[in-house]
Amino acid sequence: MSVLETFDHTTTRRLHAERYPELGTGPVSVTPFIAPEFLALECEHIFSKMWLMVGRIDALPTAGDYFVRVIECLNKSIIIARGQDGVVRGFHNVCRHRGTRVAAGAGNCKYFTCRFHGWVYDTAGRIKSIPDESQFHALDKQKLNLAPIHTDVWNGFVFVNFAEQPRETLREQLAEIGEKLAQFPTQSMVVSGRWGATLKANWKLFLDAFQEGYHVDTVHSGTVGGYFTGRRNPSCRPSHLALYQRNRAASFSYDPDFTPHRSELFSIKSDAALTQGAQAEQKKLPGTNPDNDPYYSFDINVIFPNWLFDTSAGFYFVHELWPIDATTTRWESSLYFAPPTRASQMIAQEQTITLLRDAFREDVATSESSQAGLNAGVLKEIHFADSEITCRHFYQVVTQLVQNGGP
Ligand code: FES
Ligand SMILES: [Fe+2]
Repeated sequence: MSVLETFDHTTTRRLHAERYPELGTGPVSVTPFIAPEFLALECEHIFSKMWLMVGRIDALPTAGDYFVRVIECLNKSIIIARGQDGVVRGFHNVCRHRGTRVAAGAGNCKYFTCRFHGWVYDTAGRIKSIPDESQFHALDKQKLNLAPIHTDVWNGFVFVNFAEQPRETLREQLAEIGEKLAQFPTQSMVVSGRWGATLKANWKLFLDAFQEGYHVDTVHSGTVGGYFTGRRNPSCRPSHLALYQRNRAASFSYDPDFTPHRSELFSIKSDAALTQGAQAEQKKLPGTNPDNDPYYSFDINVIFPNWLFDTSAGFYFVHELWPIDATTTRWESSLYFAPPTRASQMIAQEQTITLLRDAFREDVATSESSQAGLNAGVLKEIHFADSEITCRHFYQVVTQLVQNGGP
């Protein structure tokens, strides 16, 4: 029996609410999407205490490689560096003399030299040299290394935790979704497309745009709408859904009646399409397509607090949502394919890259429009359909963590 037969997309039953009654069914407050005070609580209890994904380890293949990340809502700039000993570490990007940044961007070096007065640190964060050192008064050089940050790696993704002592290990925080995706072969794929924007929307409001399919038929009518909606699933309900303690996963089927146009057919031949059908089944990657759906397109994996690791047959894409203020978010998105070995494969991948880029731009536009509407103060509450239970779950996880003071 196919997944489309076992999951009746035309049912009027609200199946997810039946399965997860603890999430309730009522409207939810708009306050978490607009209030600066609420973002302050999220920063204090979530972003300051939990593991945050800050990049790929592939960006640091050799000793001395580093990249800097800015985390606006915490006023942090951090350096992730591979030391000469091969170990990847995280540090605060703050000179011990008078606080100046010691690095910017990304690159390779042996030493970080502060541009203000020239204090020098090595790539393990140790203080190496202080110009005119005799003029200081009783410096304790043991205390002058760059301030370290808890850093860990899972499936090639680098995480940091700003807590003095994290309450959970990274594995504990990732929990079931970490086990599900531990073997997904990220190491065999390289970044093939990258986008980003600073947009006028709350970070959760924008993340919600990537975790429900209800908007696909309308927002994406010019791009991927027709791939996913049709007679059998007009509102793009997920074909599979799993809500974990804080993370969640959903899978989406493409429409069995979808007729691929020529460029999509070209991508299907090269295993780079959203609609690969039997090919996708044969090339099933670990942690994907949980129902062995013959019309499988992709899975969303929403990993708390602020990123998605979305997997498909032969590629994956990541969204990061970083709050700047309550109604402004920095979004970074990247798409990964196996390195192409033929020109035709490169073109096929480019077709999917372009398609997703255009679809994501559509999500930006509606999210900014939704935020503007909420900012008007007319609505006190909003409504989630059963097919938007991923958004309801996210809302509940965030509000509970804020109430409980963190994990
Ligand atoms: S602030 Fe860095 S050397 Fe003075
Ligand atoms: Fe979308």
